[in-house]
Amino acid sequence: MTTMTPVGNFRKRLKRRVKWPLIAIVAALPDSVQTLLYLPRVRKFAQHVPVLKVVYTGCYRTHPLDKALGTETGGIEPPEAIYGDDKNAGSFPYMGSQPSTVRLALRQLGDLRDHAFVDIGCGKGRPMIVATEFPFREIIGYDLASRLVDIANRNARIVARRFPERVPMRAYAADALQADFPPGKLVVYLFNPFGIQTMTRLLDSLTAAYERGAIEALSIVYLNPLCKELFDASPILDCRFSASVPYAADEIGYDEGVTQTVHIWTSRPRA
Ligand SMILES: C[S@@+](CC[C@H](N)C(=O)[O-])C[C@H]1O[C@@H](n2cnc3c(N)ncnc32)[C@H](O)[C@@H]1O
Repeated sequence: MTTMTPVGNFRKRLKRRVKWPLIAIVAALPDSVQTLLYLPRVRKFAQHVPVLKVVYTGCYRTHPLDKALGTETGGIEPPEAIYGDDKNAGSFPYMGSQPSTVRLALRQLGDLRDHAFVDIGCGKGRPMIVATEFPFREIIGYDLASRLVDIANRNARIVARRFPERVPMRAYAADALQADFPPGKLVVYLFNPFGIQTMTRLLDSLTAAYERGAIEALSIVYLNPLCKELFDASPILDCRFSASVPYAADEIGYDEGVTQTVHIWTSRPRA
């Protein structure tokens, strides 16, 4: 086992303190500058410049959804930028789902009129914004990071002003394991928010709520499903959809991928 020297430790802490403020400067570059950086001749050099190269994740460009609505759902927020030095906090970063993937997943579920939508690890609320396009009875999200929840609720106000006829969305600052699940029919949305330990406890608590009848019917939509086996082994769920879904053409270049893996499970009919 290697142990870090005090100098090594200091360097690591300094790098962490300096890295994210610098990335924040790059993230704040206007879209016109980011577009310029995408020109092949500029990119050839700029992609090798430390920090500046994060532009080429595409996540810091203004997403088409945000351009259309005036919301703010972009960026990558690494765990250390979200949670600081809190060792008990999450270990996965924030990154928004692509709206076309969310739409395709929700269309697999049929009539959603009496369902609630719950995004566990909702971040800035992009999937909730897309969920407002569907006739859910309630749309909520939970995230550990209160700063992201504030942004999600700012987005909620923008969407509510623009589409007063839609069901409003609301984000809450809470750990997934403390989340309250609305009773009745539920769609739980997960974009790879955490690892196996938290996911096991989350699935246990959903299963218990389903078995005592508090949840009438349960659908799980899971993107980039690192803990897929847990759901496959569940005695109350059947896999209903599993595919690698291409992004819509206008969403390509707004993160590093061009497809997303989507799995959907729904609860078995009760005996
Ligand atoms: C990949 S992002 C997904 C954001 C959003 N669901 C989307 O698809 O656009 C994962 C989010 O999970 C949140 N998260 C991580 N651990 C969590 C926990 N234990 N409880 C609630 N949220 C958590 C992170 O703060 C991050 O915003």
